[in-house]
Amino acid sequence: MSDPKNILITGAAGFIGSNFAHWVAEHEPDVRMVVLDALTYAGNKDNLAGIPEGRLEFVCGDICDALLVDGLASRVDAIVHFAAESHNDNSIADPAPFVRTNVQGTYTLLEAARKHDLRFHHISTDEVYGDLALDDPARFTEETPYRPSSPYSSTKASSDMLVRAWHRTYGIDATISNCSNNYGPRQHIEKFIPRQITSILSGIRPKLYGDGLNVRDWIHTEDHSSAVWAILTGGRAGETYLIGADGERNNLEVLSVILEAMGQAPDAFDWVRDRPGHDRRYAIDPSKLRRELGWEPIHTSFAEGLAETIAWYDSNRSWWQASKEAVEAKYARSGQ
Ligand code: NAD
Ligand code: TYD
Repeated sequence: MSDPKNILITGAAGFIGSNFAHWVAEHEPDVRMVVLDALTYAGNKDNLAGIPEGRLEFVCGDICDALLVDGLASRVDAIVHFAAESHNDNSIADPAPFVRTNVQGTYTLLEAARKHDLRFHHISTDEVYGDLALDDPARFTEETPYRPSSPYSSTKASSDMLVRAWHRTYGIDATISNCSNNYGPRQHIEKFIPRQITSILSGIRPKLYGDGLNVRDWIHTEDHSSAVWAILTGGRAGETYLIGADGERNNLEVLSVILEAMGQAPDAFDWVRDRPGHDRRYAIDPSKLRRELGWEPIHTSFAEGLAETIAWYDSNRSWWQASKEAVEAKYARSGQ
């Protein structure tokens, strides 16, 4: 058990980290946050707007900057580590920043946690486990062997290994969570769900990779936030917890819900080139998290969660409109 009152959150200008910061601001009134974020193409300081100044200090900087990280670590009692290069398609085009941020960056943070004796929670992904066949009844558990497929997932797997080793060798009070695909407000428009929503809002036809049958296990990002808090405060040192909300759906099904909710014809989309090495299916068994920490998701209707997400992108066009053309031009160059 831990009761952190000053936490360093990395990557909280991005999608999941910013939603976590908002969750903490709302649910944990005694906690003060320091955010470290390099504001890459995926980071946006406006994502933290609305959190009172006294609750959150924003520092623009790189998690690989050991001196900066050490200074910030000396002022907190826990690190919650979200910062990463996070998009598979980008990792295929250029893996270098993935190795640097995801591996070197995690190492830098672990060294600071070791020196200052901090609680450390590492945010990871179910993609470290590779993929499952469509007809396989199995789901990933904490015991599933690592078998990452992409440059992205292999760098996340590497970072998980570092965390495990720093716990075992140096005794760091560390936990890891591997979560399934998140959706919700403030997700970068290069990702599947926001790409399709913002395309329809822009008069562009949605794009489906391959045969559209790849399965992802969707969870609302607010449910991810509550799970991370439960693990940070109640998780056992050295343990891994899988986070998922029983949300398996194939990409065609997800797109169909979006098309219907946005008043489009069911066939108003284009089939495009498949992703190289495209993982077939992800599926999480979240029993350990539910059993040990009593966590439950609150967003149990995917259709409702998607409708709210569509409404968010519709009423926050200034958040994404300026980058839409460049994102689509980049995809067009790779035939997607
Ligand atoms: P994101 O790309 O939206 O945000 C990443 C943030 O990290 C950005 O604000 C960016 O500026 C920052 N960042 C990148 N490199 C940095 C560096 N060197 N130093 C400091 N800051 C840096 O990503 P996301 O989707 O919010 O994912 C957050 C975390 O959750 C990642 O660790 C990712 O692997 C994990 N995860 C994501 C999903 C998902 O569905 N998106 C699912 C499971 C796990
Ligand atoms: P993505 O959001 O990139 O997440 P991840 O690859 O980490 O699971 O993609 C989710 C799924 O959607 C994945 O199977 C690839 C597919 N996809 C499309 O079919 N079309 C698109 O335009 C994008 C971006 C993804």
